[in-house]
Amino acid sequence: MEKVEQIRSLLFERVESSDQPREVLKADEIKQLYGVIPTLSPEERGPFGKAVNSLKNDLEVAVIQREALMEDAAVVALDVTAPWDINAERPVLLPVEQASQHPLSRELEAVVDIFTRMGFEAIESRQIDDDFHMFGALNFPENHPARDGYDTFRTEEDFIPPAHTSTMQNRILKDGKAKLEAGGQIAAISYGRVFRNEDVDATHEHTFYQCEGVFVSNSASLGQMLGTLRSFFETYYGQKLKIKTQPAYFPFVEPGLEFAIEKPAALGGKPGEWLEMLGCGMIHPNVLKAAGIDPQKYRGFAWGGGIERLVMLKYGIEDLRHFESGKLQFLRKFH
Ligand code: PHE
Repeated sequence: MEKVEQIRSLLFERVESSDQPREVLKADEIKQLYGVIPTLSPEERGPFGKAVNSLKNDLEVAVIQREALMEDAAVVALDVTAPWDINAERPVLLPVEQASQHPLSRELEAVVDIFTRMGFEAIESRQIDDDFHMFGALNFPENHPARDGYDTFRTEEDFIPPAHTSTMQNRILKDGKAKLEAGGQIAAISYGRVFRNEDVDATHEHTFYQCEGVFVSNSASLGQMLGTLRSFFETYYGQKLKIKTQPAYFPFVEPGLEFAIEKPAALGGKPGEWLEMLGCGMIHPNVLKAAGIDPQKYRGFAWGGGIERLVMLKYGIEDLRHFESGKLQFLRKFH
């Protein structure tokens, strides 16, 4: 009997360590044990035979368990929520410490930060809008050719992925009306993605980012607007800048202007090299009216411009398409 116990522990160890555990069931030791049975006295034979049989049964169970474990071990565990490198032969986790914020997100945060510190409330713009907010509320007459200048996409249901963040103006004005009439002012920016049906090249994208500003009070002036924009640009680029404006037409402002800065020498600019940064102007009375604000009592200014352009100048990026490309070589420069 002692011998059965010895062999039991020996064979169990062998099952645990063998690559082919099933082979253990054919072990010589078992045959030897069976061979012992006929040599025993009739009284001993029964219990001994039972012990050997139960050893064989237990071994079989152990073999099946070990085989199942080996099968499980051969399967690579997958975290289906993990960001895989789909080009790798076998899924490998992308190392989290190599990730970084997209340069546009980071710069957009910097832009929003500057304006919120100036007292502007910041709201994200919508990515799907309608004809009223894109055109009607912004004083674009029906069928006016100025509408064509915006290369708008439309869904089959006639919704519009906004072609500029100005679609937020009517909402900002309506939301701020009560505050304005209580003696306060409206000071808000709206930022987010905009879309235009354009041929893509180094300076045009179908998807890009804009930031829009709206300010209304009982005494808002062009001078205040230019001061606000100048201090924004000087803060963003961390240096004094020369600015200039020239007339431009946007149906929602009167007068309408293009705002330019002289390309700083530190960023590779030559004197007299002007870069147009955004569109701006005094909010058209019809735009105030469309939001229920009395243009006799209140005036406002608004501006809107692309974020990519700002960032390209800051970092000397020559091709707009890099931003949406997802190319690691580009993104790594901004770690
Ligand atoms: N929405 C205009 C554009 O994208 C820019 C703009 C905004 C002009 C606000 C004037 C006032 O071209």
